[in-house]
Amino acid sequence: MIRLDEETADDWWEVEGLLDLCFAPGREALSSYRLRDGVAPVAALCLVARDDDGAITGAIRNWPVRIDSPHGRKWALLLGPVAVHPTHQGEGLGAALILRTLEQAREGGWSRVLLVGDLPYYRRFGFEKLDGVTMPPPTNPERVLGIELREGAWRGVTGPVTRAMP
Ligand SMILES: CC(C)(COP(=O)(O)OP(=O)(O)OC[C@H]1O[C@@H](n2cnc3c(N)ncnc32)[C@H](O)[C@@H]1OP(=O)(O)O)[C@@H](O)C(=O)NCCC(=O)NCCS
Repeated sequence: MIRLDEETADDWWEVEGLLDLCFAPGREALSSYRLRDGVAPVAALCLVARDDDGAITGAIRNWPVRIDSPHGRKWALLLGPVAVHPTHQGEGLGAALILRTLEQAREGGWSRVLLVGDLPYYRRFGFEKLDGVTMPPPTNPERVLGIELREGAWRGVTGPVTRAMP
């Protein structure tokens, strides 16, 4: 049984360590981080998984972003980063973190979610390539994926993804 908890302030550096371990050096230079600069994550949607000794083995954080759509500015949830310690990969932790996030985001009133990632992994959760939604460069448009938490939530929503101002 996988137990997920909300990340606390005390967990911050342990999660940072896990992200450093799981991602290539320079992860914070990724364009998606520019959308997170100076913006608080959605606390209720930042989750950690722990092993029996209490060490963090998986984590997910989520940020609000906006899309400057021709039909007005729209809110979206930017999912990630999500990471699972290499010794625990393939045990379903990543799926548990993502599915819990999507469930709680829907309950929390979020309509649409996007991320930058591998479609072959995220397709299983219902993510599809988003056409016309552009992340800050340099981002491969093939990796900009989205999912609707309310039917039609991405319909007609196109344009650049921008930082949610605090
Ligand atoms: C991606 C990640 C979070 C998945 O976590 P996980 O707990 O291992 O995932 P799950 O156990 O839920 O799923 C494992 C399955 O996903 C597959 N998978 C993992 N990463 C994948 C990828 N990038 N593309 C396609 N499939 C992938 C595995 O091969 C495995 O397949 P199987 O079920 O057929 O055996 C984890 O591998 C990780 O931390 N990777 C490094 C950081 C990273 O890339 N994060 C995502 C950024 S977009």
